[in-house]
Amino acid sequence: MKRLGTTLALVAACSAAPESNPQGLRAPAPTKPSPDQQVAADRLLAGPDWYRHAVFYEVNVRSFQDSNGDGIGDLAGLISRLDYLKDLGVDGVWLMPIFPTAFKDSGYDIADYRAIDPAYGDLATFDRLLAEAHARKMRVYVDLVLNHTSDQHAWFQESRTNKTNPKADWYVWSDTPGRADIGNCGPDNPRFGDGWSRDETRGQWYYHRFYKEQPDLDYRNPDVVRETLDAARFWLDRGTDGFRCDVIGKLYESPTGCDMIPETIAYIKQLRAVLDEKRDAAGVGPTMVSEPSELNDSTKYYGDGSDMFHMSFDFGFGYFWQLAFGARDKKIVDDAVKMTIGYPKGAQPAQVIGSHDVPRAWQYTANEPWRHRNAALLQMTLKGTPFIYYGEEIGMRPGTQFVVDDRDASRTPMVWTKEGPGHGFTTGAPWIAFGAEPETTSVAGEDADPASTLTYYRQLLAFRRGHTVWGTGDIRLVALDVGTIVAFVREDPTEAYLVAVNLTDEDQEGVAADPLPGAGALAFGDGSLEAGGGSVRVKIPATGAAVFKVR
Ligand code: BGC
Repeated sequence: MKRLGTTLALVAACSAAPESNPQGLRAPAPTKPSPDQQVAADRLLAGPDWYRHAVFYEVNVRSFQDSNGDGIGDLAGLISRLDYLKDLGVDGVWLMPIFPTAFKDSGYDIADYRAIDPAYGDLATFDRLLAEAHARKMRVYVDLVLNHTSDQHAWFQESRTNKTNPKADWYVWSDTPGRADIGNCGPDNPRFGDGWSRDETRGQWYYHRFYKEQPDLDYRNPDVVRETLDAARFWLDRGTDGFRCDVIGKLYESPTGCDMIPETIAYIKQLRAVLDEKRDAAGVGPTMVSEPSELNDSTKYYGDGSDMFHMSFDFGFGYFWQLAFGARDKKIVDDAVKMTIGYPKGAQPAQVIGSHDVPRAWQYTANEPWRHRNAALLQMTLKGTPFIYYGEEIGMRPGTQFVVDDRDASRTPMVWTKEGPGHGFTTGAPWIAFGAEPETTSVAGEDADPASTLTYYRQLLAFRRGHTVWGTGDIRLVALDVGTIVAFVREDPTEAYLVAVNLTDEDQEGVAADPLPGAGALAFGDGSLEAGGGSVRVKIPATGAAVFKVR
């Protein structure tokens, strides 16, 4: 590493953003990657580390694109929007549950692990989605919800008939609302009740970590282990590229522990072995991402870095960013980054701002577009694979109609056109009302607007495309003497960048007695970097952010 000690380098001049450019972008910011970047990206995305270099996009299929006018988004609709996603710079989609469901928890109550809900299509349409996505070099993940089924699942329907049927022990039954071996593992969230419900047919109580319509499977029964691993194989055999594993840390319970106890860890290793069966000679294969039970610590989900999850959401990150902007204090982000540095070698965090479970990025960032943009810049430059939640790229606003529960505020239909009533989502009546202000946040409305959130996302994704450093580079924090600028270096053998994000709406500057790998230039955003005499001075204008190429 080269110290900047004696060679004084004035790297980029600082000046306020011109009025003509309300985003404050100073570096040229094309919305498309160069042909060379694209070639490099294609190579990276075809290799064993493809998921580290990919940009994922979480799709709520029900709300993305309706193809038949029934007001419900479907797989055929999603297929018709793949080009939009490709153009945005998306390499993989994660589909929220698309399986048959009574829709008591937005599809997280699965009634059949081997079929598609007729509202979304059928297996033939799913196969077509895989073919169309793969033709565009995009991957498809499905949501694997293994902790529980719907109470409408045939397994539960059989299990509840009596205490002696072949599936009598597939769920967690008890004569009382409690069981010693379950301990106090009841729901962590009051929205799901107190964990035990009575079934009058069987004359017993059953355990559920979530809604009462979501009975927990009993993984101490080897038949359940076999059947659920086979369900995973079913989707992999069709060509599915991986899974997002819902609340998987909660599979097994015990009196002394409720999350990621040794039995759960052993099951996840078996699931990983199922995925590894599908790797080709180059080691490319399906991968999986988990949601940790502890929002901000995924350590246990990675195992030794090669035998459990490939990626894990640090859901805490989205919250951290919000807190950091609110408190104007980088320590909150720094602490989160330090945690990821402690993950086992090979671990790849999955970076999110929002998801179907939390408020829209718009709310998270206090309804201020600049905070949203800076949060997105952090998401795309911190160590980890970004997962964009649908609509985030247009700054979609929350809704106020609730069909399942208040999380529906973040699950409203995608706004494709300015004009209502269906806004390009449907020709019928949408299953749930649009979020607020659809006429100001639509794909068509933002498409050609250089100052729009959509344009910013395109610029960000084009900027990082094909550079190995964003996918697999190391990260280290840069210790500035101010708390108002988040600063870190990403580096690998090919190049290095300094990322600096102003957490405030005032100009900020900070000094670091910190060696940088070398001199460089402003590569994205707006700001200046002066290095010399063993220190660096970073200046970032109000609401701005900058990425400097320092090697
Ligand atoms: C999902 C939630 C769901 C819960 C229970 C989580 O992983 O993200 O939306 O309510 O699991 O299935």
